[in-house]
This record gives sequence, structure tokens and C-alpha cells, in this order.
Amino acid sequence: MPSSPAPPLRCPLCGRQLTLHTLTGEGSRPSVVCGAGHSFDAARQGYYNLLVGKGTVFEADSADMVAARFNFLDAGHYRPLADAVSDAVLARVRPGTPFTVLDSGTGTGHYLRVVLDAVRGVSDDVTAIALDISKFALRRAARLNPEAFNLACDVWQPLPVAEAAVDVVTVIFAPRNAAEFARVLHHDGRLVVVTPRPGHLASLAAKAGMLAIEDQKDARLAESLAGFFVQESTRDVDIRLMLTPRERADLAFMGPAGHHLDRDALAAKLDTPETASEVEALFRITVFRPGGRPG
Ligand SMILES: C[S@@+](CC[C@H](N)C(=O)[O-])C[C@H]1O[C@@H](n2cnc3c(N)ncnc32)[C@H](O)[C@@H]1O
Ligand SMILES: [Zn+2]
Repeated sequence: MPSSPAPPLRCPLCGRQLTLHTLTGEGSRPSVVCGAGHSFDAARQGYYNLLVGKGTVFEADSADMVAARFNFLDAGHYRPLADAVSDAVLARVRPGTPFTVLDSGTGTGHYLRVVLDAVRGVSDDVTAIALDISKFALRRAARLNPEAFNLACDVWQPLPVAEAAVDVVTVIFAPRNAAEFARVLHHDGRLVVVTPRPGHLASLAAKAGMLAIEDQKDARLAESLAGFFVQESTRDVDIRLMLTPRERADLAFMGPAGHHLDRDALAAKLDTPETASEVEALFRITVFRPGGRPG
């Protein structure tokens, strides 16, 4: 049974190092195994289920919400944002030096795909770890990024990742566990966070009954990371989208509104002549470095 050099992963049950075992027999699947014998097989779709215990009570994105996000992102509408995230990550890659990136709340994996394609041009020794609590999302992510360790886990629990093992953590519209991100990043690592800015998708939000973006988001972001991270830089990315009714419905449904709105009702609401087909997406990419003292 060949096993690769140990990836920077830790057993969610006992904290020991996990080793990757790739079996070659027909029908056999890879697994990650710790020294105490805890073993986690890859699902048929390629991700590892490292969810243990009860975890956080959480309304996971449904298969339909994930499908809407997949369709929308796959059409490339947010590609300028993905490129800007990838620029922020690339700034930390040194030619010929091993590089580890962790995408927390990876969703369908579209942003990580763009990042990995860019990083590959600079370093050929790249380890990618993608975390999400939604198995529907991870199925898509594992297909798009088969070279990554796609892990089902709860970011509010200790992450199944070794200390100081990661060069860059990316968090794109996903929850932020500052203490755990600080633990897994090495001292010169970076945290790259994407958040929406006030006015993001405003014309769509008004029609679809989506939540408006609060003005205080920046302050809240800094506050949520205080004691673990210091803000280093910001970059705003604005994207003017021209969308068909179907694309508008996907965009509305892939966000938090998808949890409480019906897809067909949403599509009907957005398919009226007076609905503007131009929608503005307003993002901020903030780069943080580890620093500050936990309060
Ligand atoms: C709005 S989506 C963003 C997905 C992706 N980053 C993107 O921008 O397309 C938020 C993601 O965070 C994941 N998520 C939410 N809470 C989580 C938790 N406690 N642990 C792990 N993932 C979580 C969701 O399943 C979802 O895929
Ligand atoms: Zn173990």
C-alpha cells in the first residue's frame, strides 16, 4: 500500500498526523489514516468526511443553492474577483519554494481553481486544502480541484490542519475562525478575506428580498479578527454584470436568500420587465497578517 509523504493534516479525533494511503486495487478509494488507526476514506466523489461529533447547528446550503452557485460561477461572471484573489495569493508564492494554500468555505471550488492555475505557473510544489461543511458543495469542489484535499469539516471546530503549515488562507464569503486561521498559518503567512461592500447587488436585492449589506461590515470584519490578525491592505473589485432572468435568479438563490426563498418564486419575481438586467457587484479583498495579542 503506497502512501505519500504526509500532508499537513491532523486527525479530527486525536490530533495525530494523517497519512495519505492511495490504493491501486479496483474499486478501492484513497484514505487518510492517523497513527492511532483512525481512518477516513475518500467519498466516491473524492472528498474526505472529517466531520466528527455533533458540530455546530448549521443550515447547510442545499443541493439547489450549490447548483445555482456552480452555474453562476462557471459562467465566469465573477472571474475578475477570482483573478484579484489569485493576485493576492500569488504575491506570497516564491519560485521553486513549496507553497500551501487553504480555502476555507470553498463552496464549489471555483476560486481555488483559478488560484491553483495561477500558482502552478510559479511553484510546482503546491499543496491545496479546501474546507466546507456542505457535502453538496464538496462534491463539486472535488471534481473541479481533484489535486486538493477537499475536507468536510466545521470551521468552528479545531481545523484538521497542522500548526504553522499554511502560507495563505483564503476566505471568500465564508465564516472566519480567527484563532484557528492564526494557528494553521505560519508566522509570515497571510489571510485573504473577500467581503461584499455596501450597495453590492443592490438592484437585485431590492427585488428579491435579499438582505442588504450593512455599512459597518469593515469594522465588523476587523473586530472579528482582532487579537489574531492585523490588516495589511485592501483592494476593491467592482463588476458590472448584464444578466438574463435565469442568471439573476441563480445569483439571488446562491446566497443566504436561498435558505428562505423558493427558487421558482424568486425567478418569477425577477422576471418582470422593469427588473434592471444590469447588476453591480461590489467586493473588497482584505489581506491580513498574523499579529496582535489574543484578548
Ligand atoms: C456563501 S458560500 C461561499 C462559497 C465560496 N467561497 C464562493 O464564494 O463561491 C459560504 C460557504 O461556507 C460554507 N460554510 C458555512 N458555514 C460553515 C462551517 N461552519 N464550516 C465549514 N464551512 C461552512 C458553506 O457551506 C458555503 O459553501
Ligand atoms: Zn486519530
